[in-house]
Amino acid sequence: MSGSAEIEWEIGLKPSSSAQRQQIAQRVVALAAVSPAGSLDLSADPVLAKAVHSARATVRGGAEPWSPAAAAAQRRERPGAARPAPGLTSPPRVYVHALYDEGATDEYTDGMGASDEESVAWTQTLLPALSLDGHWESLLFDISVKHKLLSYARSALAFASSGVDTHLVSCHRLLLLHGPPGTGKTSLCRALSHKLLARCADAFSAGQLIELNAHSLFSKWFSESGKLVGAVFAKVRELLDDPRSFVAVLVDEVESLAASRAAALNGSEPSDAVRVVNAVLTQLDSLKAYANVLVLATSNITAALDAAFADRADLSVFIGLPQMRARYMILASCVKELARAAVVSDVCEPGEFEPLVALVPAGGLDLSAIQRLTAQQGSATARARDAMDDEVPPAERERAAAAFRYSLMLLMLAQATDGWSGRSLRRLPLLAHAEAGGEGSLAYAPFLLAMHSAVLDRDADAANFEQRPPSCAGAQLPANARAERG
Ligand SMILES: Nc1ncnc2c1ncn2[C@@H]1O[C@H](COP(=O)(O)OP(=O)(O)O)[C@@H](O)[C@H]1O
Ligand SMILES: [Mg+2]
Repeated sequence: MSGSAEIEWEIGLKPSSSAQRQQIAQRVVALAAVSPAGSLDLSADPVLAKAVHSARATVRGGAEPWSPAAAAAQRRERPGAARPAPGLTSPPRVYVHALYDEGATDEYTDGMGASDEESVAWTQTLLPALSLDGHWESLLFDISVKHKLLSYARSALAFASSGVDTHLVSCHRLLLLHGPPGTGKTSLCRALSHKLLARCADAFSAGQLIELNAHSLFSKWFSESGKLVGAVFAKVRELLDDPRSFVAVLVDEVESLAASRAAALNGSEPSDAVRVVNAVLTQLDSLKAYANVLVLATSNITAALDAAFADRADLSVFIGLPQMRARYMILASCVKELARAAVVSDVCEPGEFEPLVALVPAGGLDLSAIQRLTAQQGSATARARDAMDDEVPPAERERAAAAFRYSLMLLMLAQATDGWSGRSLRRLPLLAHAEAGGEGSLAYAPFLLAMHSAVLDRDADAANFEQRPPSCAGAQLPANARAERG
């Protein structure tokens, strides 16, 4: 197989576009044939420029977006595999989907006054949704969690559509993500349901994401909760009756269901709680009969999970706090976004993680180590260039040295944020901007320094928190979760 034949294109059409998916796919194939692998200049084709909202390349079978860095890494692993010249490659696989811009709608049950926010029974989003476009790509993990989830979902749907007897081969189509708060579990579930629809646009005529917040099932109309569960699932089954429509049901923070049942079984709460949880479990079981449903559940505290629920999950995946590589990538993506929005100026493209991390001294990175490494790198490059008689303009030399130094500073931040969740990392740029004065566009170097002091601030604040009784986060992770994390 040739190098570029491994690339797949995922094309999202603008909600306003009436273009035919097949026609778009043909044009993408034609444009890809005359473009460098993994890049597509949409402005070269007026029809594509008008219709396409987003175009993303992926290595075939992979779940990560294609990038020149990934391709370079692949070439390093297989040195013989050169990139074929444009025009000589087999066509890429193209997935075209229309994006919906309906927004999420809240659904209320009869007799529960739509004016009261507690009466929101579930949220419904038409898939693939414009609001979820790019979410999958924005979630960054150390190991290939996303690949695992996408593969599972495809296999589960394939088993269902092939009519595999679930009495003989268990397949509940229930996926459970668990781990500390802020690690991207809810976002991953939403993004996965969007991704499935984007990739299977031909298999389904419509897709819906139904989100039910387990908290809302225990509303102040506690005795009404059983009815609420019934209403939600009646709606889900209505959608599922059309075999061409796909439904992802997200049961977020499922531990609150489990905790209620445990409390009720201990006799400290009315037995209604048991009835509600049992109703949910029975309803979830009844969904097995449909080939076009996937149930996604999240939990922040695995220890409190109802055994009956956990047992129903085909796959249970621990989503841990991001390690150094993921932290670096998350921070790099924040910096790139601020550069795009012109909130930070003179941003240099962050360097590749692996070569940078190989340079980190045993004691870790600090500002003086960064100075030393930048000077070393500068003179090594200069010597190599001199040996090749390669004249480099001083400005270009300076720019390269700055890019290297700033990438190391970003790496230092990734090192300093050990134990932070993805949510806290994505908040850091805002705090840094505020710390640096909060007005107008900032230059890259002072911005990175402001990020550093915002990290120190937050750590000092966290130390104060630790004086208080410990929170549940992390404390109740099961032994296997801790091992996975380590
Ligand atoms: N690994 C990650 N990569 C990128 N962003 C992340 C990651 N983990 C969390 N985030 C960001 O943090 C925010 C909160 O994530 P969320 O899905 O609500 O976490 P959880 O459900 O685990 O509490 C989201 O905006 C998400 O983009
Ligand atoms: Mg969540």
